[in-house]
This record gives sequence, C-alpha cells and structure tokens, in this order.
Amino acid sequence: MRVLLTGGAGYIGSHTALCLLEAGYDVVALDNLSNASPEALKRVEELTGKKAPLIVGDCTNEKDVTAVFEQYKIDAVIHFAGLKAVGESVAKPLDYYQNNLDATMVLCRVMPRYNCDVLVFSSSATVYGTNQEMPLREDFPTGCTNPYGWTKWISERILTDVAHADPTRSFVLLRYFNPIGAHESGRIGEDPSGIPNNLMPYICQVASGKLQQLGVFGNDYPTRDGTGERDYIHVMDLAEGHLAALKYALENKGVEIFNLGTGVPYSVLDIVHAFEKANDLTIPYRITPRRPGDIATCYADPKRATEMLHWSAKRDLNTMCRDAWNWQKQNPKGYNE
Ligand code: WQD
Repeated sequence: MRVLLTGGAGYIGSHTALCLLEAGYDVVALDNLSNASPEALKRVEELTGKKAPLIVGDCTNEKDVTAVFEQYKIDAVIHFAGLKAVGESVAKPLDYYQNNLDATMVLCRVMPRYNCDVLVFSSSATVYGTNQEMPLREDFPTGCTNPYGWTKWISERILTDVAHADPTRSFVLLRYFNPIGAHESGRIGEDPSGIPNNLMPYICQVASGKLQQLGVFGNDYPTRDGTGERDYIHVMDLAEGHLAALKYALENKGVEIFNLGTGVPYSVLDIVHAFEKANDLTIPYRITPRRPGDIATCYADPKRATEMLHWSAKRDLNTMCRDAWNWQKQNPKGYNE
C-alpha cells in the first residue's frame, strides 16, 4: 500500500513518512522544498532502511500532481503541503488563499481519475478562532482570525462538500494543536527558515546561543501564571495519529474531523522551565508585550480521536523538551550542515 505525502519533506511530513515506513507502508513525497530540505527524507531512509522517494514539484499544479499518479500507484494521500505562517498570511493573503486552496482542489480533481479516494488532511486548531470555552471539541463553532486559518477552514469545507457529493470518498481532517519535539534519534526535526515564529524552535535557538534571549509575549493573560497556554504535542505522537487516521479512512467512507492534541495545556513559562529541567540549561527570557492575534488559552478535548481512532498522545513534556533539544544540539544549522 503506497501513500502520497504532499509536503512530505517538511517537519510533520517527514516524521509521518518515518512512521508509515516502519508500519510497512510505501511512501512517496511531493514537495516544492519552499520550506523543507531533501535531506530530511534522506535521513528517513537512513533511519528506516527503506526508500522514501521525493518528487520535487508543486501541489497546486495539476500536471505535477498528475505526473506522480502516472508514475506511482497511489492508494491514499496525506496532504501536508501548504503555507503556514500566520503573520505572513496577514501580509500576503492572496498567496495563502491561492496556494493552500488550489492544492486541496487539485488533489480532489486528480485523485478520482486514478481510483484514489482516501485523503487525510492537515488542518489546525486555528479554525476554532477565539472566545471559546476549553477544552475544544470538534463540534464547537469555528471561525478564523487570519487568512492562514481561513485557508484551513475553507479546505475543510471543500473536502466536506466533495465527500457529500461523492460517497466513494473517505476524508479525515486532523486539527493539530502545537506540535513540538523531534524523533528520538535527533536526525530529523523542525528546521524553520529565518527567526522562528514558534515558541519551541525559538527556545532551542536561545539554548544553542544562536539567539540571545526569549521574548515571552505577555504575562497578563487570565491564566495560571499570566502567560499563554497551549496544547503541546510531540511530533511523533502527531505522526502516529496520522497512521491511525489513515487506517480509519481506509476502512470507512465519508468525512470525519479529529483533534490531535494531548488535552493538557502548558503555559509559556511551563515550557521554559520544563526545557531547562529536561536539558539542565538556563533559558534567559524577558516579558514583552502580547503578540497581536494571540489568545490566552487553547487546548484540545482529544476524546473523539481516542474513541474512534484508538489513538492518544503518549509522550510527556519532558520527552518533548529533551527530543527538541537533542535535534537542535546535533543540527545547529538544521539540515543545512
Ligand atoms: C505558542 C505560545 C505565544 C513565540 C501557531 C499557529 C498555529 C499552528 C501552531 C500551524 C503563545 C508564545 C511564542 C515566542 C512567546 N501552526 N510565544 N514567544 O501561536 O499557539 O500557534 O503554531 O498550524 O496555527 O498559530 O504557537 O509557538 O507561535 O506560540 O511567548 O517567541 O508561545 O504567545 O502563547 P501558536 P506559537
């Protein structure tokens, strides 16, 4: 059984490729390498002893996607590819709508031509928007606060409507919370370009000395210690969640939505202190003003994924912090060694 991973050379894509290969699936990745390195899949091959072919191409280009289906028998697709920087999406909304929505629609058109009707989609908790009670459940109202979030929301809408129009389809939409960490080997991990937007890669670069000090975006939120709370999930738990979702999608029809989170919120200072303890390091930080658009608290109710996918996150915060640093330590320049 072969799975196409769009964006498969990326952070979550490469970890999922490793999980799939270890579970006996074949994989092929389609990636334009705009935010990924071919080295990631070379290392997946090194770790698994199995092939993880990469086709460099554009998921929004129908010819590129068709060429993959012409070259390989594809039984299912996991669609990771997409632009994903919230701040950038506000500055370049058309790029985000065009890229992220075209990729979803091209897949919906090409797949049935090759009798491929199973797709797992990389969505995001960002579709829940703000002012929600916690923990978040899949049946809660949705609505976004930035173009990136809307591209995920609209893609969910497109996939839902396509599945309703064509009952042969099977789509599973996964709403990620905050993926962090790396494979225990430290050979693959998160490799953001430029100064990291996200908390954990920023902390890792402070720990390595590449950045001087962490700015904590506000300590006046209505939370335990005043700093923002999020649902951090180990990227390997997230990857295993895709394996469970794929199995479910292969055995069912229609469209289902699942949160992939731990259900446990941690604050920014919780993460800083856990990272320091796990790695016996000090992370210098200062309190800075809130980041526009941030919400106080966001965490999942993962019950539905546990009950229907028989999946739950297993790795604790200490492991997430230790594995994140293990990758950074071994790869101070990411994949561009
Ligand atoms: C986490 C917490 C910040 C950096 C984003 C996207 C979301 C998803 C995951 C794609 C917050 C605080 C951060 C820093 C800080 N991506 N922080 N100093 O914003 O929850 O979610 O990534 O799907 O769509 O919005 O993650 O890691 O940026 O922030 O204090 O230098 O850390 O305020 O409380 P976020 P994050």
